[in-house]
Amino acid sequence: MCGIVGILGNHEAAPNLVAALKRLEYRGYDSAGIATVNAGVLDRRRAVGKLANLNDTLVHDPLAGKTGIGHTRWATHGAPTIANAHPHQAQDVAVVHNGIIENFRELRAELAAAGIACQTETDTETVALFTQLHMDKGLSPVEAAFATITKLQGAFALAFLFQGQDDLILAARMGPPLAIGHGDGEMFIGSDAIALASLTDRITYLEDGDRAVVTRAGVEIRDAKGTLVNRPIRRIEIDASHVDKAGHKHFMAKEIAEQPAVLANTLKHYLTDGGEILLPDPGIDFTAFDRVTMVACGTAFYACMTAKYWFERIARLPVEIDVASEYRYREPPIPGRTLALFVSQSGETADTLAALRYCDGKAERIVSVVNVPESSIARESDLVLPIHAGVEVGVASTKAFTCQLTVLLMLALKAAHARGEIDGTSLANHVDALRGLPALMHLGIGQSPQIQATARKLSEARDILFLGRGIMYPLALEGALKLKEISYIHAEAYASGELKHGPIALIDKHVPVVVMAPNDALFDKTVSNMQEVMARKGKVVLISDAKGLDDAGDGVWDQVEMPACPDVIAPILYAVPAQLLAYHTAVAKGTDVDQPRNLAKSVTVE
Ligand code: F6R
Repeated sequence: MCGIVGILGNHEAAPNLVAALKRLEYRGYDSAGIATVNAGVLDRRRAVGKLANLNDTLVHDPLAGKTGIGHTRWATHGAPTIANAHPHQAQDVAVVHNGIIENFRELRAELAAAGIACQTETDTETVALFTQLHMDKGLSPVEAAFATITKLQGAFALAFLFQGQDDLILAARMGPPLAIGHGDGEMFIGSDAIALASLTDRITYLEDGDRAVVTRAGVEIRDAKGTLVNRPIRRIEIDASHVDKAGHKHFMAKEIAEQPAVLANTLKHYLTDGGEILLPDPGIDFTAFDRVTMVACGTAFYACMTAKYWFERIARLPVEIDVASEYRYREPPIPGRTLALFVSQSGETADTLAALRYCDGKAERIVSVVNVPESSIARESDLVLPIHAGVEVGVASTKAFTCQLTVLLMLALKAAHARGEIDGTSLANHVDALRGLPALMHLGIGQSPQIQATARKLSEARDILFLGRGIMYPLALEGALKLKEISYIHAEAYASGELKHGPIALIDKHVPVVVMAPNDALFDKTVSNMQEVMARKGKVVLISDAKGLDDAGDGVWDQVEMPACPDVIAPILYAVPAQLLAYHTAVAKGTDVDQPRNLAKSVTVE
């Protein structure tokens, strides 16, 4: 994880470095630091905790210089302490790193044998120490850094800054993304283009194995073999404006509340006035596929799990799903006529990207559903389906999830129609249901005060179960994930029919059980499972529509009423109470809702 930036500028670098890091805070916020070269002198400032702490440090102890590098950290090796914070410095070189140096133990041993002791617990320090060692042996900074890079195994995006070099930053990429920004007489480096949004819109993406020598005059890039290469400069459209909370207490609250508008926008991008579902060129010929493989992580994986129900039931297309961190390690065979679909909000999740690369050359077609169209996953796909959710700041994914679901449902409907599984009338009915979604979501969000009251009670629980059946099962999993990541309450989800195969042993009067049950074909079965919980004194929170609550609400501990909706869109609509329950519970517990402990918005390491 971690975010890195570099600036070879014409103005003081520190404020711009901090502003760029602010845009990268989604990658980690355990500690942060910057280093600059000022009149040849290399110096650094670091602080534990969020970027605001580094800002405070810089107010009391400013750092001058127009050339600098910066880092925001999500700790992998070593606790979040000042000593472990980047940049790591070894006398004349400072280094920032995103990724993991897997052979760092061997490198440490080699350094120890040369009489050089590490001062930190990090893997990154070895990079700085080896570069210094190479310089001590007479290599130039560029040669020393490149000699060090050839020793590294693992994943890295690196930037190097040197004492005495006001016009030089070296950058290297193997795995995690790295972008070079082109200014007018200025050059920039960033983990992504968003970091550089207020500095430039002209971006070159480094490819794996690339090493770049960056000066104010431009960039010289060599590939892993040392051959000079030309990487294109792209003009990127990124809204550089500051994303604010629009009057909400947290970004997450804002992102939940804006879902009706955001979803309407997503629909607008894919639906014609005549009710046709349009994909970006060159589209997908669904008759050319016999199966779909969907791979993602976390919330995006639950979107895939939900979509499996749609693709199989409506389009009669078999779907395999897997979490990206497992997928490539089980080395699945990929038969011909497989459509491989990767879902990712950030488009930078390391495991999802690696799974995509595993499928490259094996699957017939690689399609990604992403929120960031300039991301690595998007750039490596045959076709990109943007979800148009807008920037999502809250670490807990909300609007991206419902937009992912919406795009995946449209895809399943398109597949069903193309394969002759549904006729034009049925397609039109489904599209009408989708068009009605923003208004229903608005009503769902209107239940926030009731959900807040329920959440206050939930906030006292130690363990909470979520139950759902059929297509509501993935939603139960998503509800439990959302709750644990921001409220830190232990939560589990089960397909409600599975309860009596083990988990029912957990039920007693202290365990709230949230049941997600629209009044659909499986409602009666879910209610039977719910009765089994109540018979064991479990405290049921039933989330259903008016009819469902009327039929089955007797004896429940609490209930949340959702508007009645067509079955096909229920998982998208019921995401709202799942999100609001987690949000209000976290607020009641006083946790850091937008930046919960131990997490980062984008997981760019394995
Ligand atoms: C949970 C959450 C994570 C992400 C997961 C994948 O609220 O946000 O589980 O869904 O890390 O991230 P992306 O979608 O960026 O690949």
